[in-house]
Amino acid sequence: MGIVKYIRDFAAALFKDAPYTDSMLPQEETAEKEYFLEGRYRVKKLIRETNLSRVYLAESSELEEVVIKHYKYEPLLKREVAAFERIIEKGGHESLVSLVEYSLAERLIIMPKAESDLYALIKVSSSASQRKGLDPRVVYKIACEIGGGLQFMHDLSMVHRDLKTANILLFSKESKYGKREQLKLSAKLADFGCCWFDGAGYLEEPGTPVGTLGLMAPEDLQSSTKSPAADIYSFGLVIYEMIAGRGAYDVFFDFETRIKKRFQPLPENEKIPLKIMKVIQTACEIKPENRHQSQLELVEDLRKALY
Ligand SMILES: Nc1ncnc2c1ncn2[C@@H]1O[C@H](COP(=O)(O)OP(=O)(O)O)[C@@H](O)[C@H]1O
Ligand SMILES: [Mg+2]
Repeated sequence: MGIVKYIRDFAAALFKDAPYTDSMLPQEETAEKEYFLEGRYRVKKLIRETNLSRVYLAESSELEEVVIKHYKYEPLLKREVAAFERIIEKGGHESLVSLVEYSLAERLIIMPKAESDLYALIKVSSSASQRKGLDPRVVYKIACEIGGGLQFMHDLSMVHRDLKTANILLFSKESKYGKREQLKLSAKLADFGCCWFDGAGYLEEPGTPVGTLGLMAPEDLQSSTKSPAADIYSFGLVIYEMIAGRGAYDVFFDFETRIKKRFQPLPENEKIPLKIMKVIQTACEIKPENRHQSQLELVEDLRKALY
């Protein structure tokens, strides 16, 4: 299958196919740098590191906790900064993460600190309770918030292209994981490094698939379509993961199977009630024109299935 080889060739460069490390679950790392931006930010610890970036927890000179994302790959920084500028220019959105400041010279962006990300919340909740996945009210609240943020981007002709639970940050005054506390968390979409919009310039050879393998729409596995319908597909898989407690394609560890399965209808899952499964299956239709035509349509469909 030509496409498999094609994707494998690009995997090292642009696919962020590492759901198990791409998260705030605790990792043993030590920080390399102590200060950024002339000592205005002091590093407290390294949260995580991939081949593309380092994410630090830091403290500003006003003693506010922030997160610093330090890029190893400059084009991703430039893309993320350009995306932030476009979002900020249009007034920003409460469900899109905000920017404190950035520095091209020091290759970093600084954001308010989130309590957790959705990937970690799902993991913690799934292991703490007998039933897998999140409470339906929490699922609906997060879907509404992320749907709103994504719709704002689509209305600006921006496609996120890397929608996944590790890129959904959860903000709260309290850092508890109990169910009542979960309802107080507000979800914000982050990580605009792969985002596409007109005039953003190419990160990749034109046509090269970009995103995270486990959540990419089938049409984007073949060639980057830069269409909002691809975000709807990934959004469907995020809803699946919130309810089932694990990603739809996590079970298939070998590369070829995971790709092949994507060109077949999304299979049902015993942990997902049939009514909700139908909504997810619509969002994840193989043909983009058969999916929900907007996140609002998808969220409304989800509400009807949940309540
Ligand atoms: N503002 C933030 N607050 C807390 N954690 C964050 C923040 N930004 C990122 N993280 C953590 O770092 C991870 C990687 O950040 P992300 O922006 O997605 O970078 P990458 O491009 O390397 O995936 C996120 O999945 C999340 O766990
Ligand atoms: Mg990310």
